[in-house]
Amino acid sequence: MPTELRSAAIVGIGSCLPERVVSNAELEQIVDTSDEWIRSRTGICERRIVDSTKAASDLAVQASLAALAMAGLPAAAVDLIIVATITPDNIFPATASRVQERLGARKAAAFDISAGCTGFVYALGVASQFIATGLYNNALVIGSEVLSKFVNWQDRKTCVLFGDGAGAVVLKAVPAGEGLLGLHLGSDGSGADYLAIPAGGSRLPASNSTVQRQLHTVHMNGPEVFKFAVRIMGEASLKVLKKAGLNKEDIDFLVPHQANSRIIDAATKRLGLEPEKVYINLERYGNMSAASIPVALEEVYLAGKLKVGDIVLLVAFGAGLTWGAAVLKWVLDVPEEGAS
Ligand code: UT7
Repeated sequence: MPTELRSAAIVGIGSCLPERVVSNAELEQIVDTSDEWIRSRTGICERRIVDSTKAASDLAVQASLAALAMAGLPAAAVDLIIVATITPDNIFPATASRVQERLGARKAAAFDISAGCTGFVYALGVASQFIATGLYNNALVIGSEVLSKFVNWQDRKTCVLFGDGAGAVVLKAVPAGEGLLGLHLGSDGSGADYLAIPAGGSRLPASNSTVQRQLHTVHMNGPEVFKFAVRIMGEASLKVLKKAGLNKEDIDFLVPHQANSRIIDAATKRLGLEPEKVYINLERYGNMSAASIPVALEEVYLAGKLKVGDIVLLVAFGAGLTWGAAVLKWVLDVPEEGAS
């Protein structure tokens, strides 16, 4: 395929969700919160939490195996692995290198992307460029997060929001005009401190003092992130549609980052979309950061809601602050009965 005529499309998708379900009622036993507060302010009812032995790469490997199986791509043939995560196994090496080793993807280049909850959209965009230029013919793109290990379980403003999980997609070269039709990525570092883990990096290395002050856990200015998210989800969606030469009316399905149902409702209204065209699963999983979009996309696909040629809009916001939106022309056939 001549490179000027290439794009990248999702040809396999998989997920991994921890078995343990933690309900809002359970959290009422740990912090001063209520099921009513969490539901009405966020839409979340329960989330999945890993057991203490599991790390981001464990979930990533399971999600990847499912995505590779659907794509019919042997691990040894994978060209590139990108893991989007803010909860890596280690500061270094990259979680992607551990995934590459566990999958036996011997020829694959591997690296991580840190763009907060926007990480999956960033990774999808980066991998697609490698495919479009012809450097690689395929890529495995994973969003994997274990935020349960990085929240302060005494901080009700954050611990009720997040859940663990991973989603993976296999991208392959397709003719231009299919797969990724448009991409819009952005960042505003002036909001970097609104959502951060303050310690454990080179600015403030981990010490007894940082641990005592809980600076190794997630700190968030919720209302500031909320205001930003409500504005940027609509703006980023409109920008990417324009880049792709499409209109709001062309959208068959919106799969947004799953952080808060009030934020998704605002984006839905801004785009004038019927609620049936918007997928929400945060009531079951909470905010899984970079994993939220691929997990939701897999559910939409396995439910038989996407058909070949559908226009799918992905849009996310997150730490950085970052944002990103991608428009895809779907290429996978509706799964056979019972695939889900
Ligand atoms: O993927 C990116 C990740 N981040 C986000 O998406 C966060 C975006 N922000 C939000 O979703 C919302 O700001 C939150 C859901 C985090 C908070 O909702 P809010 O309506 O902005 O509440 P607030 O932070 O302004 O707090 C309102 C009240 C406060 O009490 P006072 O000061 O009014 O007495 C909080 O202390 O709610 C209290 N509060 C809680 N009460 C019960 C905060 N967290 C809780 C809680 N349970 N878990």
